[in-house]
Amino acid sequence: MSRTAIVAGNWKMNLDRAKARELTAAIAARRGEAAAVELVLCPPALYAETVGTALAAAKSDVALGGQNMHDKASGAFTGEVAPPMLVDLGCRYVILGHSERRTLFGETDAIVNAKTKAALAAGLTPIVCVGETLEEREGNRTEAVVTTQVNGSLAGLSPADVEKIVIAYEPVWAIGTGKVATPQQAQEVHALIRRLLAELSSPAVAAKVRLQYGGSVKPDNAADLAAQPDIDGALVGGASLKADDFLGIAKAFA
Ligand code: PGA
Repeated sequence: MSRTAIVAGNWKMNLDRAKARELTAAIAARRGEAAAVELVLCPPALYAETVGTALAAAKSDVALGGQNMHDKASGAFTGEVAPPMLVDLGCRYVILGHSERRTLFGETDAIVNAKTKAALAAGLTPIVCVGETLEEREGNRTEAVVTTQVNGSLAGLSPADVEKIVIAYEPVWAIGTGKVATPQQAQEVHALIRRLLAELSSPAVAAKVRLQYGGSVKPDNAADLAAQPDIDGALVGGASLKADDFLGIAKAFA
């Protein structure tokens, strides 16, 4: 399969400007270690300019992404970030519907759907996150939950739009817990997501969409995940804050 692997670092609400600069420079300097893999850094929005400037200074092709955005292009939305603002800062990607946004900030599939459409309209590539909780997995509801999230988050997208997006499967119970899904568990859900994408668009389009796994990905478990046929990259939280770990993961997908 000719999908280019994509590994993105979700820095969440961490680091300061100096550390953001340092981490960016370290990753840019060693980017060649995973040259075949597309890399994306998603710093806090306030630091996107800092990271973008550091990437430009290093003449790096590492991409910049946001962690969230509003679905409106401008207006009276105190504290929010508009899609064109991310574009203005040089972002090419935006993470949408991360489980922390869904559980801590009340984002529904309808909200994620509106944001996905807004991101595409602004020219950003959405990284749409889905994933079940531990309770849902133990209740044998993983397939139903992920199906609802994928269909709800991508409702109304044309096949051409489906082709542009990235989906991250992140079981909530694996995020920040050190409990990674087994490669088989992850592959099973990735295969399900690809089937759902085929229903939403076509098998040919679905075959082109990149599916990331996320949840406690580390250099020592990345290779087994990368070996799965439907896992095309990783969305990395904690381990993306260390250049060694982030590049170690990226190399596993090279
Ligand atoms: P983690 O986070 O790698 O720290 O588990 C993943 C994520 O939230 O995207």
